[in-house]
Amino acid sequence: MTTPNISKTDIINAFNFRHATKEFDPTKTVSDEDINFILKTASLSPSSFGFEPWHFIVVQDKELRELLKPVAWGAPLKLDTASHFVLGLAMKAPMVKHDSDYIMHMMKDVKHLPEDVIEMYSKFYREFQERDFDLDSDKKLFDWASKQTYIALGNMMTAAALIGIDSCPIEGFHQAKAEALLKEKFGVDTDKYGLAYMTAFGYRKEDPAHEKSRRNFEDIITWK
Ligand SMILES: Cc1cc2nc3c(=O)[nH]c(=O)nc-3n(C[C@H](O)[C@H](O)[C@H](O)COP(=O)(O)O)c2cc1C
Repeated sequence: MTTPNISKTDIINAFNFRHATKEFDPTKTVSDEDINFILKTASLSPSSFGFEPWHFIVVQDKELRELLKPVAWGAPLKLDTASHFVLGLAMKAPMVKHDSDYIMHMMKDVKHLPEDVIEMYSKFYREFQERDFDLDSDKKLFDWASKQTYIALGNMMTAAALIGIDSCPIEGFHQAKAEALLKEKFGVDTDKYGLAYMTAFGYRKEDPAHEKSRRNFEDIITWK
């Protein structure tokens, strides 16, 4: 494992370069290597207990992109022009509840934990969900999985910016209608997965019209 050696200037440049790109240059395509690099950073993202409660659908089919437009008011221009369009799905209760088959699969087959550790972890995980985080409804469990799926979103957008690729995160969609569509046309099992966000990747058509606006740094940080 090598220790990263990227300059702070390059990183801050990338954060300044990244902006919510409204329209992409439709003639420019992100290479397979680059989109896979970006998606890899989703996979390498941290998640609570390391259970990776997410799935990503890369929508390149034009007809499927068309179908998304009526349910995603924030997306049409991006659906038309983005090189790659990614749906961020977060797992629902049947997947992420402490006693689900998926959680057992993660502990056994992915993390290769020994039986006694699985037993201890399962108890701990149940207590975390029921006692510490009060995850006592399907909605709360989905939102909890979504929070983690957003970490992957942030990482993908930053990784893209670091290699000069633009992105736009999109929550401008009707969640129930979008999920109905995902079930009917995308083959998604919506009992198990919900749509957390969409993200477009590509190359900007033009530079942003405005300077980045942010609250004062001092107003968002408190030192004690
Ligand atoms: C979770 C989330 C959802 C967003 N949804 C949309 C969207 O639907 N359409 C859009 O054009 N921008 C969307 N944005 C972009 C924000 O408006 C933008 O990030 C913010 O105004 C700050 O600007 P900047 O990203 O260019 O620095 C979204 C951003 C986030 C983080």
